Amino acid sequence: MAILLTGGAGFIGSHTSVELIKAGYDVVLVDDFSNSSPEVLNRLKTITGKEIPFFQGSILDKDFLTQVFQENDIEAVIHFAAFKAVGESVAQPLKYYHNNITGTISLLEVMQEQGVKKIVFSSSATVYGMNNVSPLTEDLPTSATNPYGYTKVMMEQILMDLAKADADWSVTLLRYFNPIGAHESGLIGEAPNGIPNNLMPYITQVAVGKLAELSVFGDDYDTADGTGVRDYIHVVDLANGHALALKHNLTEKGTHIFNLGTGNGYSVLDLVKAFEAENKVAVPYVIKERRPGDIATCYADASKAKEVLGWTAQKDLHDMMRDSWKWQSQNPNGYDK
Ligand code: WQD
Repeated sequence: MAILLTGGAGFIGSHTSVELIKAGYDVVLVDDFSNSSPEVLNRLKTITGKEIPFFQGSILDKDFLTQVFQENDIEAVIHFAAFKAVGESVAQPLKYYHNNITGTISLLEVMQEQGVKKIVFSSSATVYGMNNVSPLTEDLPTSATNPYGYTKVMMEQILMDLAKADADWSVTLLRYFNPIGAHESGLIGEAPNGIPNNLMPYITQVAVGKLAELSVFGDDYDTADGTGVRDYIHVVDLANGHALALKHNLTEKGTHIFNLGTGNGYSVLDLVKAFEAENKVAVPYVIKERRPGDIATCYADASKAKEVLGWTAQKDLHDMMRDSWKWQSQNPNGYDK
């Protein structure tokens, strides 16, 4: 029996592949390389020593997905494949609704046809919207402020409704906070297309000299230093959270929701200072206007994952800063040569 990872060549998917293999699972990867690189597969072979079965194609292509299920003995699916750039989703909503929503429905229909009813879904803290107060708990109402966020809210709803309609389904919704860092080898890491939207890859690209300076989006928030506070979690901790969530999903039917965060909030300037101190490299920055749609503070109550899954984040800010820099300094152009 194998675990199918859609978007398996992506930032979270590739790191989760490594931890699942370490935990003794067989994995099968699907990716269309719309936001990832074939080079990731070579890196995964180096890290794991295994030739991981891989199928290139889109989750929108039901014939392709059906063939993957028929050629492999799939026990469960971890669904990472989705577009995730907030700004791009505002500019191109149809692209996001089609890829993320229609793609998920296509996947679920093929799973149902193939009799595979166990899914772990890559959701996001973005579903907590603008009106909830941190620390955020899984029972809070969900909402969104952009099409990307709405796709996550809608995909959660689709999965919950499916589990209500058919008691044979096991659905696990994992709400990621802010994943950063990289595998300790520096062979895999975050490689956004174009100019990074997210803070950490922007910091590392300034540090490596690809970008001139960091724009700090606002220093007038109601936080200790006025800059935005988020719950940054090491991507390897996040990957291990998936391994424990999968183990739970394989035996528990119905819908289960978990925050995957550390429960600690750090500001933008906290990260800049921690990065410079850990890696002895400068990150010049300039204070700019707030970014539309940003909230001041967002961090998790991570107690449910600890109580139910036995999972807590193990890595600290030093680890996250060190590993982010090792990846970027070893790969200044990401996976491009
Ligand atoms: C973090 C903080 C910014 C960039 C988003 C998505 C979320 C998830 C993670 C996919 C904020 C500040 C950022 C920069 C800055 N994505 N910042 N300068 O917005 O918390 O979450 O990415 O799943 O769903 O919503 O992450 O890294 O963009 O921003 O000052 O160049 O850094 O204002 O306070 P965010 P982020």
